[in-house]
Order: sequence, then structure tokens, then C-alpha cells
Amino acid sequence: MPSSISLMFLPLLLFLLSSASWAAASDHSIEDKFYQCVNLHTDLSIPFHSAFFTPENASFTSVLQSTAMNLRCLGPSRPKPELIFTPLTESQVQAAVICAKELNIQLRVRSGGHDYEGISYTSATPFPFIMIDLAKLRFINVSIEENSAWAQVGATIGEVYYRISQKSRIHGFPAGLCTSLGIGGHITGGAYGPMMRKYGLGADNVVDARIVDATGRILDRASMGEDFFWAIRGGGGGSFGILLAWKLSLVPVPLTVTVFTVPWTLEQGATKLLYRWQQVADTLDEDLFIRVLISAVNSTDQKGKRTIQTAYQALFLGRANRLLKVMKKGFPELGLTQKDCVEMSWIESVLYIAGYPRTLKPEFLLQRKSFFNKTYFKAKSDFVKEPIPKFALEGIWKRFLQEDSPFTIWNAYGGMMGKIPESEIPFPHRKGRKFMIQWLTAWQSGDKKTTDKHIDWIRKLYDSVAPYVSKFPREAYVNYRDLDLGVDKLSGNVNYLKACFWGSNYFKDNFKRLVQVKTKVDPDNFFRHEQSIPTLHSLSEEDEKKMIN
Ligand SMILES: Cc1cc2nc3c(=O)[nH]c(=O)nc-3n(C[C@H](O)[C@H](O)[C@H](O)COP(=O)(O)OP(=O)(O)OC[C@H]3O[C@@H](n4cnc5c(N)ncnc54)[C@H](O)[C@@H]3O)c2cc1C
Ligand SMILES: *[C@@H]1O[C@H](CO)[C@@H](O)[C@H](O)[C@H]1NC(C)=O
Ligand SMILES: *[C@@H]1O[C@H](CO)[C@@H](O)[C@H](O)[C@H]1NC(C)=O
Ligand SMILES: *[C@@H]1O[C@H](CO)[C@@H](O)[C@H](O)[C@H]1NC(C)=O
Ligand SMILES: *[C@@H]1O[C@H](CO)[C@@H](O)[C@H](O)[C@H]1NC(C)=O
Repeated sequence: MPSSISLMFLPLLLFLLSSASWAAASDHSIEDKFYQCVNLHTDLSIPFHSAFFTPENASFTSVLQSTAMNLRCLGPSRPKPELIFTPLTESQVQAAVICAKELNIQLRVRSGGHDYEGISYTSATPFPFIMIDLAKLRFINVSIEENSAWAQVGATIGEVYYRISQKSRIHGFPAGLCTSLGIGGHITGGAYGPMMRKYGLGADNVVDARIVDATGRILDRASMGEDFFWAIRGGGGGSFGILLAWKLSLVPVPLTVTVFTVPWTLEQGATKLLYRWQQVADTLDEDLFIRVLISAVNSTDQKGKRTIQTAYQALFLGRANRLLKVMKKGFPELGLTQKDCVEMSWIESVLYIAGYPRTLKPEFLLQRKSFFNKTYFKAKSDFVKEPIPKFALEGIWKRFLQEDSPFTIWNAYGGMMGKIPESEIPFPHRKGRKFMIQWLTAWQSGDKKTTDKHIDWIRKLYDSVAPYVSKFPREAYVNYRDLDLGVDKLSGNVNYLKACFWGSNYFKDNFKRLVQVKTKVDPDNFFRHEQSIPTLHSLSEEDEKKMIN
């Protein structure tokens, strides 16, 4: 591996850099210095000129926007990178880390660009940064004999699913529902999806990884050690290093699976039915995953009136006849019939659950994009341990009817999710959670007034449901990153004690171990962003004494 070789020469290169070449380049811009430095540190047989985009380059904006999912984070007021670098090889990623450190410039790392707060391509406060976009590192090697796949982080989860399905119709991988997610950010934050009740999260099914650490070394599971490997499976992106690839353990899927979507509106008794679903959702057969998509829609009965629609969407790992039995026993109130059930292959179900039209073929996944258009959005998450009472549901509906495009998705837990211990990986939301909620509102224009109005709406909604969701801490999913939970200073002087608040929302007691790992593997806090894991050094001496005692 190139890592050991470049490491041997590292001291020499750093010496050269910090003396002659540096002095000569001292009046050059950050772009020039970074370019020269990467030049020094990589194999020149792989040209990388075309991998640099400065703001002057005509392609800069299109590269920046390419995979950025949230238009809210792309507005003119949001800081932009000084430079975008799209490495073509692992050693170019190493060079980027070494050179950014050398130039004392921050990095932002992007795999699929789905970060809810745009942390992979912008920042909440202005400071110069270089964006490393890993979209070109996306080789996937599926081995059915070994029941595993190595996938580079720039691959989308949809590409991973497609490549597996090309090798076998009875293998799959349990991760997210949205096919354009980059596996770099997605899996390092957990990665839940329609097979989690049977097999757990994507991060529960990772068996090895390759990462560039803060010193520029490439490490795998054996060389990084079990603490480090623990932290990157759920501890969230951008804190520990730049992931290069995951080794995924495949899971069995049946030749034929069954899906359905059954909508209920308020007029049909949606509130009562949803109360019932909350009671049974986590107890149903592990082969069955039901999520409820809740939105405000135009009423079909009364013109000009809006109502709430609750759509029950499911994946069942088996055939329709067995599904009907499972539903009759566990959730007959939905009234599922043979007519509602559609049998298909697992890979077809990936497109179905993503909400795509049946006319799209699995090859669409190779386009790496979503079928849906991008929007401006703000989202939040919650975990629920007791059914939300009917009067509180009615309060939520009232708020929904006041908002243009409100949306919430309730994902059933239980099954394998309840069996994996809370400390197995950093993702702590396990036993006793009935379901996870995502709250979301989307809009179509970037002006401040519109933005403020919708953000205000979702914050008020979030406050209003506090009594009915998990408490002390109020749990949140790190992959649904929410800067409202708290933001660190970026000066490097991160406030550890403040970080404990959002740290426990996302990770509960696992936050402490994440801080310990971070302190060990990145003591200078090189990999940082608004909500990165802080080091213990960022405590004041006094606080540190209190912590230790
Ligand atoms: C439309 C949509 C649907 C979603 N559906 C699901 C779902 O079904 N299940 C689910 O679990 N989540 C879902 N998510 C959330 C998703 O898992 C997170 O947004 C995830 O972080 C996205 O990863 P990414 O690589 O695409 O994003 P990016 O924006 O590229 O990265 C996200 C974070 O990880 C960091 N990061 C990226 N690449 C690396 C790397 N190689 N090494 C280290 N850090 C890195 C970034 O700096 C950033 O902090 C969804 C998000 C969206 C927008
Ligand atoms: C912009 O970048 C592309 C790819 O690196 C390169 O081919 C092109 O020459 C650059 N254009 C300008 C104007 O710098
Ligand atoms: C893919 O994986 C198989 C099995 O581990 C291995 O033999 C093969 O060399 C790999 N191919 C590539 C191109 O890395
Ligand atoms: C709902 O009705 C309003 C007008 O009453 C209309 O502007 C809007 O487009 C409709 N929405 C949908 C999704 O049909
Ligand atoms: C996306 O936007 C384009 C242009 O406005 C529109 O034609 C298309 O129907 C939209 N696609 C979806 C899936 O909404």
C-alpha cells in the first residue's frame, strides 16, 4: 500500500515543504500552495490537474452544486470553498490531509452531499476551507463467495445495491431508503433502512474499513484498532478522518419480497389507526417493516379543503400470502388485502420504497441521483418509547394544516434494533424505542423571509411534541444533523461541556467514548466542523479536573 511508503518519506517531504518550496510559494494563494504541495506528495503518473476547481473555473459552481442536496445550504450568503479537490486515488486523499494540515486550512469532506445542514460543502460561519469531494472514488467489488463487498465511499448506496443484485438475487445490504446517499457519510452515521428490523443498521454490518487519519496514514481495521473502528461505525462524519472504503457484510434476501402502500386520511379514521400502529409497530414479525409517511394533502371530498394523509408503506421479506397472515395476526386494523400487495425482486423493492415510479429500471441507480428534485429543507428527528396520545396527534395535525409542505416519516423499530446493545456501536437508539420520527418541511425559494417562516414552524412543532418523545436526553439521529441542538465554535477551541448536550442527544453515554477515541486519534482536532466530536483537550483545566474526579 502507498501508505507505508509515503510515511517513510513524510518527514523529508515535510522538511522540504516547510523550508525551500514554502518560502518560494509564500506569496501565492492558498490554491497554488495546496496544488504544489499535493504535487509533491502524490504519484505523478496519475495526473490530478483536472481534479482541482478554483472559484474562477467555469465548472466550480456545477461541481459544488452537483450532489449538494439541501438548496438551503447553497445560497449566496453561505461560505464557499476556496478550492474543490476531487481525488482520483487514495494517495491523493492522503496528500490532501497532509497539505491542508501543513497550510493550516480546514477541510470539508463530501461523499454523497446529503448532509442536512450542508456541513460537507459549506459552513455556518465564514472561514477559509478546502472541499474534498470523493465522488470519483467509487469502485465496488462484490464477492458472493466471501459474502461481502468492498465499496469506496463515493459510491451511492443505490449503486451498492445494484452491484450486489447483479451478482446475486438473494443477497442484499441493510441500509438507507434514499438511493442517492453517499456511503461515506451515510454509513458512518448509522444508516437505517427497511431491513433494519431484521438485520440492524448499515453500520452494524460493516466488517472492515479504510481511512486516512489526521497524520495522513491509511489505516484498516487491524491497524486502526477496535476503539477507532468502533467510533467510525455510527459516530458521524467529519470527526475522525477521511473514510476511503467500507467492507460490507452481505445479508440474505428472498427471491421474492412484497411491498405495499396503503393511504388513510383523517376522514377514514387515520388518527385512531395511527394510535394502533404505534402500539404494534415494534412487535410485528421481523421480516416486516412498515413506515408511515404523513403529509397534508388536498381533500378529495371537499374542494378547497386540506386534510392529513397517513400512508403505510412496507417491505416484507417474503411472499404476499405469508404477509397477509402476519398482518391479520398483528395489525388487522389496516385492512390489508391481496390487492394491495405487490411481489417483486429485492432490487425492484429498493426503487419502490424510494418512491420512484414502477417504470424506472434498476439501472437508474447507476445515475447516482434521486428521481426527485432538490428543495430547500429543514428537518429534525425524535425517538418514541410510548405511543403518542390521540389528542397530541390531533395537535400535530393542526400544525401541519398551517404549513405549506409539512412532512413526517415514522419508522418502526423493534426486532434486531432492540437486540443490539446500546454500546455495540456509537448509535445508541435501540431497545425500547417503538419508532423513530423524522420531521421535515420543504419549500421552493431561498429568500430569508420564506426560510425563516418555515424554520420557525418546525422549531415550534419540535417544541410542542417534547412531552411525547424520548427525554433526558431527547434523542436525535446524527445522520439527521440538526444544528439547532448546539453548535461548537470552530476556532479549534471547541467547548467540550457545551458539546455534551448535543453529544448526548445523538450518542447518549457513547459520547464519552467517542471523545476519548477522538482525543487519541486526532489530538489536534484537525477534522472538525460545527458538530464534530471534540477532544478532551478542549476542556479548561478546571473542567478537566472535575471530569477526572
Ligand atoms: C433525501 C435524504 C434521504 C435520506 N434517507 C436516509 C435513510 O433512509 N436512512 C438513513 O440512515 N439516513 C438517511 N438520510 C440521512 C443520511 O444518512 C445522511 O445525510 C448522511 O450523512 C449522508 O451521507 P452523504 O455521504 O450522502 O453526505 P455528505 O454530505 O457527503 O456527508 C455527511 C457528513 O459526513 C461527512 N463525510 C462525508 N464523507 C466522509 C468520509 N468519506 N469520511 C469522513 N466523513 C465524511 C461529511 O463531512 C458530513 O459531515 C437521508 C438524507 C437525505 C437528504
Ligand atoms: C476548469 O477545470 C477543468 C477540470 O479541472 C479544466 O479542464 C479546465 O481547463 C479548467 N478551466 C479553467 C478556466 O480553469
Ligand atoms: C475483488 O474481490 C475479490 C475477492 O475478495 C478479489 O479476489 C479481487 O481481486 C477483487 N478485485 C479487484 C479488482 O480488486
Ligand atoms: C391543492 O389545491 C390548491 C388550491 O386549492 C392548489 O394550488 C394545489 O396545487 C393543490 N395541490 C395539489 C398537490 O394538488
Ligand atoms: C423536476 O423539475 C422539473 C422542472 O421544473 C419538472 O419538469 C419535473 O417534473 C420535476 N420532477 C419531479 C419528479 O418532480
